[in-house]
Amino acid sequence: MTRISVALAAAGLMGATLAQAGEVEVLHWWTSGGEAKAAAELKAMMQAKGHTWKDFAVAGGGGDAAMTVLKSRVVSGNPPAAAQIKGPSIQEWAREGALANMDAVANANKWDDLLPPVIASGLKYEGHYVAAPVNVHRVNWLWANPEAFKKAGAKVPTTWDEFFVAAEALKKAGVIPVAHGGQNWQDFTTFESVALGVGGADFYKKALVQLDPGSLKSATMEKVLTTFKKVKGYTDANAPGRDWNLATAMVIKGDAGMQLMGDWAKGEFLAAGKVPGKDFVCVAAPGTAKSYTYNVDSFALFRVKGADNQKAQQDFAQAIMSPEFQEVFNLNKGSIPVRLNMNLAKFDSCAKTSATDFVASSKGGSLVPSIAHGMAVPSATEGAIKDVVSQFWNDDKLTATVVMDRLVAAVKSSK
Ligand code: GAL
Repeated sequence: MTRISVALAAAGLMGATLAQAGEVEVLHWWTSGGEAKAAAELKAMMQAKGHTWKDFAVAGGGGDAAMTVLKSRVVSGNPPAAAQIKGPSIQEWAREGALANMDAVANANKWDDLLPPVIASGLKYEGHYVAAPVNVHRVNWLWANPEAFKKAGAKVPTTWDEFFVAAEALKKAGVIPVAHGGQNWQDFTTFESVALGVGGADFYKKALVQLDPGSLKSATMEKVLTTFKKVKGYTDANAPGRDWNLATAMVIKGDAGMQLMGDWAKGEFLAAGKVPGKDFVCVAAPGTAKSYTYNVDSFALFRVKGADNQKAQQDFAQAIMSPEFQEVFNLNKGSIPVRLNMNLAKFDSCAKTSATDFVASSKGGSLVPSIAHGMAVPSATEGAIKDVVSQFWNDDKLTATVVMDRLVAAVKSSK
């Protein structure tokens, strides 16, 4: 026996400690450099509490592959304790009766007081907490390599007109203007930033959140689609199928000038030892400085058997919302804490801008949920409209008019 266990045994505590040690199996898709560093912090925190961490990582940015694997595990009656699930999908799983009630943890730790109400309500089903949030990612960012811009004599763009001027200059300088990965969630990540920048927050909400047919087929949507398609002309021939982090690596190396991506991309820059404002620049996607597309990562807690594993699950939910975890995880992940009133002293200027803009856009009515990242519409509708947008991106014969009809039809048939 070690000295500590002798002392615990003497105090009659060892049995109690062991009885509470359980296993927590966690499904996530955080496998890129920055993501894995952030996930490791969560693992370490659970192990420090004496629990066993069973890693259930399913690679694939955006999580499509992870969701497919999750379905088969739940259907076979063997869900993980926690799975990275967001937005309306939380409600879909709760309706199936698959999720556990986390009210005891949430009430004891005052989650209602520590979360923005709009976010808290998405984590509850019929008034009960069934998921715990880790962060707020901003999706509408543009990442740029200042060296590449210098070489091209170009200015980091803040409008779509400037974006195409910069893209031309980068091209002439022999730099790939836009680093892109041709996967449908990445296509849509670009598309929704274009929609927000060209159409504005009200258009975005009406067309892509409320799915109003008159907005899905409109002069504004036509402009959005043609602008989106124009971006493709500045991507390279190897873009199809490329993972998002490999696209970020192109900007890190200076092979490409810019990338439209959420701030998990910052996690890659940081993991590569790059310094914001010096080695890379973050600016809001063109035309979206006053708006904010949010993507909140959260873990839904599934019903698990055994008191030890249930305790481990509750400790997991509690750890996630602790200020210590919210700080260290988000410093690595590129996002900002979802817990309110946190001290952001250790965070960089991109994170501070994100935090300020989150509050300002929320007050100004221009805080919008990301469709590409599962925050806005039911998963069937999301899948259907993503497919249409990617068809348009990939097929140069498709016209905007045909695509608008397909968007309206896709929404209708997915309901
Ligand atoms: C998002 C997720 C982020 C990040 C990204 C790329 O959907 O919210 O945390 O991991 O996918 O994998």
